[in-house]
Amino acid sequence: MTTILITGGCGFIGSNYARYVSRHHPEYKMIVLDKLTYAGNPENISDLKNNPNFSFIKGDICDEKLITEIVPKVDYIVNFAAETHVDRSISEPDAFIKTDIFGTHNILEAVRNSSNVKRFLQISTDEVYGSILEGSFREDDPLEPSSPYSASKAGADLMCLAYWTTYKTPILITRSSNNYGPYQYPEKVIPLFVTNLIENKQVPLYGDGLNVRDWLYVEDNCVGIDLILHEGKLGEIYNIGAGEEVTNLELTHLLLEMLDKPKSMIRPVEDRKGHDRRYSVDCSKLRSLGWKPLADFKESIKQTVAWYQANRAWWEPLKSGEFKEYYKKQYRQMV
Ligand code: NAD
Ligand code: TYD
Repeated sequence: MTTILITGGCGFIGSNYARYVSRHHPEYKMIVLDKLTYAGNPENISDLKNNPNFSFIKGDICDEKLITEIVPKVDYIVNFAAETHVDRSISEPDAFIKTDIFGTHNILEAVRNSSNVKRFLQISTDEVYGSILEGSFREDDPLEPSSPYSASKAGADLMCLAYWTTYKTPILITRSSNNYGPYQYPEKVIPLFVTNLIENKQVPLYGDGLNVRDWLYVEDNCVGIDLILHEGKLGEIYNIGAGEEVTNLELTHLLLEMLDKPKSMIRPVEDRKGHDRRYSVDCSKLRSLGWKPLADFKESIKQTVAWYQANRAWWEPLKSGEFKEYYKKQYRQMV
């Protein structure tokens, strides 16, 4: 029987991928390992808990003993576990270095010392390349991360590549653009803006609002991840993006329109420090494996908005407690 370990499977993309695996590989034994930080929510995968092939371990990828015990029992590993929010990395970078670099290294060591693991897929990000004003980054472009978050992810990528070169540890890397969809923690721009607007609160738009992001529907990312896990070439990096580039201002206008709110709901605030202007990745390498994004941007944004409207019970508790404390510290001046 094939066993897959999904680390960080209680977060946004990890939980969507765990659900994808249960649908597309029902015969796989699936272990979700998650530390359950503020961003990890067991409810994100509550629908999987009665599946006899599913098990959950509350644990930290930095825990050497635990990782050394689990890794030899699995065939595939997909590592989503990470600290992921750029703004948090700017105010408190420590946890990013620990989880994103040291945690990944801990898994790499366990994979290197086990002959059972066939493939270890490291989930990285297009942010490791840094900002690009024109054109798109290819997989062999140099890394120029701007934030402590993207630098910690770049550190992990370099360790994975070094383990391939040095030990032939069977790694693969995906670098995707910004994802959107259900179960995204409401600190990221789309769920933050949608839930604020549902609550009739203003949305804090950073700087001039002209920074560009390429929006990828999480389900399309899951299809790409699964294809690369099974058919990607070991030691290789694959970009994943939809080519749906919009400025934050355009995105905000779209959300206002969908939720029938006036432009006065936009609150222009001071810019993020080191704010990357534009991300863009060339995905021809993944497309040559047969992948293409299937989601229609406007339609999928509409479905995402509808999901947050229908699932207030999921996000309302997340916007109290720690979240409120975080936002107090993050207070940005109106500009
Ligand atoms: P998320 O913040 O929603 O979830 C991260 C998960 O990791 C949480 O469940 C958290 O509890 C868990 N976790 C954190 N530290 C851990 C540790 N030390 N040990 C075990 N579990 C731990 O993140 P996400 O948006 O789902 O991102 C998943 C991965 O995809 C990350 O590696 C991120 O860098 C990458 N990525 C995300 C995006 C995006 O748009 N969200 C885009 C490109 C790449
Ligand atoms: P975010 O969702 O944090 O993703 P990332 O920084 O990893 O791309 O932010 C997406 C864009 O939205 C980014 O350009 C910053 C901007 N943004 C705002 O304007 N206001 C906000 O409150 C947040 C969280 C982000």
